Amino acid sequence: MPRGRGQEASTLRRVRRYHLTTFGCQMNAHDSERMKGLLESLGYAEAACRDEADLILFNTCTIRGSADERFLGNLGDAKRVKRERPDAIVAVGGCWAQSQKEEVFRAFPFVDVAFGPGEVSRLGEILARERLDAVGAFTFDGAFSGTLPAKRDRPHQAWVQISVGCNSVCSYCIVPAVRGRERSRRPEDVVAEVEALAADGVVEVTLLGQNVNSYGRDLPRAERATFAALLRAVAAVDGVRRVRYTSPHPKDMREDVIAAHAEVPEVCRHIHLPAQSGSTRVLKAMRRTYSRERYLDLAGRLQAAVPDLALTTDLIVGFPGETEDDFADTLSLVREVGYDGAYTFVYSPRPGTEAGDGMADDVPAEVKRERMQRLVEVVQATARARAQRHVGTVQEVLVEGPSRTDPSRRRGRTDHNVTVNFCGTAPAGAFTGVQITSATSTTLAGDQVGAALHA
Ligand code: SAH
Ligand code: SF4
Ligand code: F3S
Repeated sequence: MPRGRGQEASTLRRVRRYHLTTFGCQMNAHDSERMKGLLESLGYAEAACRDEADLILFNTCTIRGSADERFLGNLGDAKRVKRERPDAIVAVGGCWAQSQKEEVFRAFPFVDVAFGPGEVSRLGEILARERLDAVGAFTFDGAFSGTLPAKRDRPHQAWVQISVGCNSVCSYCIVPAVRGRERSRRPEDVVAEVEALAADGVVEVTLLGQNVNSYGRDLPRAERATFAALLRAVAAVDGVRRVRYTSPHPKDMREDVIAAHAEVPEVCRHIHLPAQSGSTRVLKAMRRTYSRERYLDLAGRLQAAVPDLALTTDLIVGFPGETEDDFADTLSLVREVGYDGAYTFVYSPRPGTEAGDGMADDVPAEVKRERMQRLVEVVQATARARAQRHVGTVQEVLVEGPSRTDPSRRRGRTDHNVTVNFCGTAPAGAFTGVQITSATSTTLAGDQVGAALHA
C-alpha cells in the first residue's frame, strides 16, 4: 500500500500540471513514459519547470551512491518550491523510494507521496485518494507498467517491457531488493503491444528486463515461451524492422538466442553483455555464476555465429578484495573480447546487499580512481580501433533527427547501435544508407547515399 502525508481531496483536485524528473536506467525511463501517459490521461499537462508545477514528481534510482546524491540535490529544489507554495504535491517514485520505505517521510517531511517501481499503475489511484495519510506498508505488486498508456518522446522507437524484477543474487546489486522477484509478461501481451506500436509507426523496439534472457521461466507451462521464441515473434510483427534487447545475463545466453541473432535479420547485430569483471575470483565473489573462461567462450561463440557483431558491456572496478592482478584480468578481457563500447563503474557499497553489508569496501578511493582511468583508456582505445572497420562502408541508418552538435546535419543509429552524424536530408523515422567517412570511439560521421527509404 502506498502511503502519504495528509492532503485534502480539495487540494488534489486542483493539481493539474506535473513536472517529472527521471533518474536511472531504461526501465525507469520507460516507467516514466507510463507515468506521463497515465497523468495525461487523467487530465494533467506537463509543466516546463518545477516552479510551474502543481505536482512535482521524481522517478528515482539507487544503483550507486552517486545516484542517491544526484537525486537528493534535486529533492532539495522541490523542498524550496514546497516552502514557497505549500499546495504543491511532492511525489517520489522508483527504486530509491522503494529502498527507503517509511524513512522517506521521516527524513523528508515535505514529501507527500512515495511509491515503489511496481506501483506505477497505481499512481493515479494514489493521487486520487481522499486522504493520502492512510496507514499502510510500502509494497510493490509487480504490476507491469507496460499495460498503461504511454507518452513516447521518440515516435519511431519504443521500449517494450517483457519482465520485471530479477532472480539473480549479484552480491553488489540493489536491484533485486527494490524491483522484487522476476515476473514475465505473457508472450501474447508482449506481441500485442508490439503490434499496436508498429501500427502507430514504430519501426524499432527494444525489449526491456533486468535479465531479459531468463524470460518466460516463471510463466505457467501452457503460456510459456522462451526468450528466443519471443525475439522471433516480435521480429515477425509487420512493420518492425529492428529488434534490440537489454540486458541479458551471460549465464542465460542459450544456443537458441544465438541462432535467432544469426538467422533473423530484424534482430540487431549488437549485444550488451555485462561482464562486470575479467577475474574469475572476483566474478565468484560477485556471484555472477560464470568464470572468465566461460564468458570468453560465450563471446567467441557469439562473434563466430553473428558476422560483424558489436559487443558492449558493463564493468565494475574496485570491488571488495580486487587486487592489481584481478584488475589486470579485467583490462585483458576488454582487449581479448574487443568491445565496441563499455559502461564503467566504480564499486559503490549498497546497504541491503551481500557485498555492501558483509564485505569491507577495502580498495582505497585513490586506487579505484586510478584503475578507472586506466580502464577507460583501454575501453576507448579498443572501441576506437573497432569503429575503424566501419569507415568506407555503407551503413543502414535509422534517422532520429538533427545532429545534436550541428543542426545542419542529421543524426541516426546503425544496426550496431552506434550514433552517426551525417550530411543528408532523410527525415526522422526513415532508413537511409550512410557512407561512413570517419569514426571516434563512440560516434560515426558520413554522407547520405541515395534517397531515404520511408519506413
Ligand atoms: N540488470 C542489468 C543492469 C543492472 S544495473 C544487468 O544485470 O546487466 C547496471 C550496471 O550497474 C550493472 O551492470 C553494474 O555494472 C553496475 N552496478 C550495479 N550495482 C553496482 C554497485 N553497487 N556499484 C557499482 N556499479 C554497480
Ligand atoms: Fe543486478 Fe545482477 Fe540482477 Fe543485473 S542480474 S539486476 S546486476 S542482480
Ligand atoms: Fe537504478 Fe532501479 Fe534501474 S536502481 S539502475 S533505476 S532498476
